[in-house]
Amino acid sequence: MKILIIGGKKFLGYHIAKAAEAKGHEVVFFNRGKTYNQLLPHMNNIIGDRNKDMVKLKGMKFDAVIDTCAYFPNQVEKALNVLKDNVDRYLLISTLSAIKPEVKDFDESVEIIGLDFKSEEVTGSTYGLLKAACEKQLVDMLGDKKSLIFRPGYIVGERDHTDRFTYWPVMMKHMEKMIVPNTGDMGFKYVDVKDLAEFAITALEKSLNGIYHISGPEKSMKYADFIKTCHELINPLCKLIEVDDKWFEDNKLLKFIVFPTCDDIPFGHVVYSANTSKAFKSGFKVRSLSDTINDAIDWYMRYKGDVNDLAVGMKPKDMKKHIESL
Ligand SMILES: NC(=O)c1ccc[n+]([C@@H]2O[C@H](COP(=O)([O-])OP(=O)(O)OC[C@H]3O[C@@H](n4cnc5c(N)ncnc54)[C@H](OP(=O)(O)O)[C@@H]3O)[C@@H](O)[C@H]2O)c1
Repeated sequence: MKILIIGGKKFLGYHIAKAAEAKGHEVVFFNRGKTYNQLLPHMNNIIGDRNKDMVKLKGMKFDAVIDTCAYFPNQVEKALNVLKDNVDRYLLISTLSAIKPEVKDFDESVEIIGLDFKSEEVTGSTYGLLKAACEKQLVDMLGDKKSLIFRPGYIVGERDHTDRFTYWPVMMKHMEKMIVPNTGDMGFKYVDVKDLAEFAITALEKSLNGIYHISGPEKSMKYADFIKTCHELINPLCKLIEVDDKWFEDNKLLKFIVFPTCDDIPFGHVVYSANTSKAFKSGFKVRSLSDTINDAIDWYMRYKGDVNDLAVGMKPKDMKKHIESL
């Protein structure tokens, strides 16, 4: 297949390109050349801004388009105005945030959160609505048969700049003692970026269409098991000090800010409640949690290397202070 990736080499686009190449497909990137332009230099890269330069793709034919960076419906519209008659399939990377947060145990027929065709800024409150509008824009312009929509939960692993998942193994590696939350029965789901990338290629090879909710593992996992695996794999000598919800209240701290991804806030619920069996039945495969943890920490150590540079979560010096006062 000749595959156009609208988006770049920062995270998901990079892994999709590698997965496509490994299966013998031809990749063409379309991005502004701003982010990690030096990576994958042997791949064709058309430089342009999707907001104004889609015309650069006029007349080009592709078996598939993978759109990793549509945040506004008019971006999908601009892409399809140029590509509509020249693509067999269009995979839009959407999100589980496009779903009503309060629903539980739902499949792909679930009601969306709503639609926003007007906002010009992506914020916590517009993100899901805008992504849902991107989905609608795609199906309205291209039809059901050629439209493929992935709704992933937390995307994690190698090259994840958010550090939301990576926080855990990096802290575990560097701390002699670490505060950890008592998470009870709370679940945890995530998707390794490499598994998502491979499923994107598999889905296009199989000519799938429609919506797919994507996160893993297939069987439910507790958040406590995630913490335990990080501990055993990365640094079993790190002393874990468990705190309960009252500790967060007493210290005026929010659990999901101190410990990223450890949230029973709406997006957490949606991620844990999504029924993902359609994706698994269609060929979505997941690697082990240990592989994902190792990938995440290896890349962090090469890219940043310093525990103090974690983008999220409680900083080591603050955690040490809290430990002293426990
Ligand atoms: N991260 C998560 O946990 C998560 C969860 C659910 C869904 N998602 C969805 O997954 C997708 C992938 O996210 P990501 O973090 O991998 O990608 P990203 O960082 O949002 O963007 C990837 C690439 O898009 C290119 N790009 C950005 N704006 C552009 C523009 N105006 N014109 C052309 N290229 C542009 C950038 O390259 P240049 O700078 O070189 O242009 C960048 O390398 C997103 O659609 C997101 O909504 C993410």
